[in-house]
Amino acid sequence: MSQIQKVAVIGAGTMGNGIAQVFAQHGHSVTLVEVKQEFLDRGLAAIEKSLGRLQKKEILTADQAQEILGRVQPTTEIGDVAPVDLVIEAIVERRDVKRDLFAKLDELTGADTILASNTSSISLTDIAAATKRSDRVIGMHFFNPVPVMKLVEVIRGQDTSEATTDAIVEKAKALGKVPVPANDFPGFVSNRVLMPLINEAMFALMEGVATKEGIDEIMKLGMGHPMGPIALADFIGLDVCLAIMEVLQRELGDPKYRPCPLLRRYVAAGHLGRKTGRGFYDYSG
Ligand code: 3HC
Repeated sequence: MSQIQKVAVIGAGTMGNGIAQVFAQHGHSVTLVEVKQEFLDRGLAAIEKSLGRLQKKEILTADQAQEILGRVQPTTEIGDVAPVDLVIEAIVERRDVKRDLFAKLDELTGADTILASNTSSISLTDIAAATKRSDRVIGMHFFNPVPVMKLVEVIRGQDTSEATTDAIVEKAKALGKVPVPANDFPGFVSNRVLMPLINEAMFALMEGVATKEGIDEIMKLGMGHPMGPIALADFIGLDVCLAIMEVLQRELGDPKYRPCPLLRRYVAAGHLGRKTGRGFYDYSG
């Protein structure tokens, strides 16, 4: 399999802009695709802010930060992915939307291009079946904040080839990350384990076992978690948490995966966590 040089990231949201940044920091030219210019502007501003932190810590000079930013080419034209070796999709967590996108990417990119998804829980086998290259479709699951978190969960679909897996494992290592393989079951390992914990914390809150601050403090101080589960849900995005719980519930069929009604209520109200300025906590300040 040819070397991965040119990369495209689809989606400039929390995960997409972080993924684009990490590739650009490691010398890759990155085509960053969004449906609207304002989403690109927001994504680029987030990359600039994150690079600014590295400048403050004198890890990067201002010139280096500019050079990294310069490697990210924003576009609203999906056809611009044509010449890349690797596409990483980081769009909304919806099966139908992802399948449509992968079918399009299959037509737009060269036969050797690897199509990766940053999906948190949707079946890679199912996504791959929307293409004619299921051997070159794989999960490359990054964690928020992408520039900081070391893990890349590498998910093999039913038909993902050894060569594709090896290429992604090697690339993740080259980005300074630690790739860990997982098989294609709902939620893989990370969200199969994390999301029920978060969901249970919400049930505990709903039942008045403790305040949100109390629950978070207990899990931070007692379990050594860097963030409590309620704060972490806000950080991930409550819509994303709900989408993942719905996948676990639907695909595994066990009632233990039912989403907490409180989570549903926050999502229905549009309070999606940090990204909307309000979730279980208030971030407007
Ligand atoms: N870009 C660059 N650097 C960043 C950053 C960003 N976006 N965000 C934080 N940092 C750096 C800070 O500069 C700081 O660096 P330093 O230690 O060298 O000074 C370091 O990260 C720690 O940041 P802070 O001091 O600001 O704050 P904290 O110590 O509270 O750490 C945190 C912040 C790293 C987010 C920490 O709270 C944490 O690890 N939280 C848990 C995150 C987590 O679980 N993520 C996974 C979510 S699940 C997911 O993404 C998968 C999906 O499928 C749901």
